[in-house]
Amino acid sequence: MSEYLWADDPPASEPGHPVRAMSSFPTSEPSVPIVVVEADASARSRLTMQLGERAVPVDTLDGIEGRYAGTPLLLVLGPSCSTIPGNTGAEGLLSRRPDVGAILIADNLSTEVFQQAMRSGFRDVLGAPVDTGQLNEAVRRVAQSLAVPSQGVTPGYAAPVIEEEHGKRGQVITVFSTKGGAGKSVLAANLGVLLAQRASGTVALVDADLQFGDIAVMLKLAPQHTIVDAVGSFDRLDVGFLESLLATHGPSGLKVLPAPLEPAFADQIGAEQMHKIIELLRSFCDFVVVDTPAYFNDVVLGLIEDSDDVLLVAGMDIPNIKNVKIGLQTLRLLNTPMSKIHLILNRANSKVKLEVSEVERTLQVKADALIPSDVVVPQSVNKGTPVVIDAPRSSIAKSLELLADRFAPPVATKKKRR
Ligand SMILES: Nc1ncnc2c1ncn2[C@@H]1O[C@H](COP(=O)(O)OP(=O)(O)OP(=O)(O)O)[C@@H](O)[C@H]1O
Ligand SMILES: [Mg+2]
Repeated sequence: MSEYLWADDPPASEPGHPVRAMSSFPTSEPSVPIVVVEADASARSRLTMQLGERAVPVDTLDGIEGRYAGTPLLLVLGPSCSTIPGNTGAEGLLSRRPDVGAILIADNLSTEVFQQAMRSGFRDVLGAPVDTGQLNEAVRRVAQSLAVPSQGVTPGYAAPVIEEEHGKRGQVITVFSTKGGAGKSVLAANLGVLLAQRASGTVALVDADLQFGDIAVMLKLAPQHTIVDAVGSFDRLDVGFLESLLATHGPSGLKVLPAPLEPAFADQIGAEQMHKIIELLRSFCDFVVVDTPAYFNDVVLGLIEDSDDVLLVAGMDIPNIKNVKIGLQTLRLLNTPMSKIHLILNRANSKVKLEVSEVERTLQVKADALIPSDVVVPQSVNKGTPVVIDAPRSSIAKSLELLADRFAPPVATKKKRR
């Protein structure tokens, strides 16, 4: 196995990038009255049951404002409240009362409904039927933002929830290649999962392959939101809002910002938008891992600039090596510090009459990690379970663990899921 070690491993006691200690998210929920508004009796009682006995069910918004005058209030509006998609009749109340936080449950959750609701001052929108865990998590987040003193909070904005983490600067690791199919997404997904298992704080994975991102599929996620929702309400994007858009990978706790569901939405996200998203994420995450497409554009160049480390992935064939050589030349021309570029040779054990040393000589860069080829990779991709979870004893999982060791030391007991 030693051939799959990093070229210049640091001693185990001195990992390349120690994980900084950080406080975790507050988990207790401030006691804010919760009112469930839904005309349909069975939908109303289902939502109320999901929230437990603290929730008060009502069938309309009439009289609510007077009944809860002068006190913070959390409204959960059921699907029947949306007379026009994303429009509920609560808009006036929400603009008058910054101390009222509202969550909308929508029958057909589309980007349009989401954007309309966020513009109307909702703090979160979830698709019906809503999962109990997701609903309670959204309620906890909004309740916490309501408990923050209101000065400086504009109506409809989620106040930053994670105050004690401000000033943090998580490490950004971008996985890139100038060759399609080199293994970027497999690497990004598995590295994200390993770091989420190891780090004491939050780890996020951003799918910046904006046209054809497959991270959600690789992690078997059915996300409620994508990066399009973040830029759709760009002027009100803050930590609390961005956090509400992240999907959670249950087995590892990794937080995922998925790519748009349709390629046509990709051009809504420019370099400026991506930069802000990364800056917000790193303000409360230990690590932000980014998957990218196989070409340079403004967004990718901005990501490379913003990154602390770039994992440049190359497969073991001549077209891969040729394209990666051009990629490296481009990065040098752009004055990218070579110290942050790490060459990762994927399928490094393939019997393809190409030696690792030959590749290193051609690229004039020493490989930082060698990842073997293994049939368990496509098998795990097809299952939607990252190979480090699906086949943890395989040689590829072990090589990925060694890659993760560079950023965060392994932990004896896995951290608890959030
Ligand atoms: N080490 C490996 N062993 C076996 N198969 C692999 C390995 N790495 C990647 N693959 C397979 O290669 C295919 C492409 O991998 P992946 O999707 O990660 O590449 P990519 O660089 O993200 O591609 P794209 O440019 O299309 O986004 C996948 O089907 C994956 O299962
Ligand atoms: Mg990919």
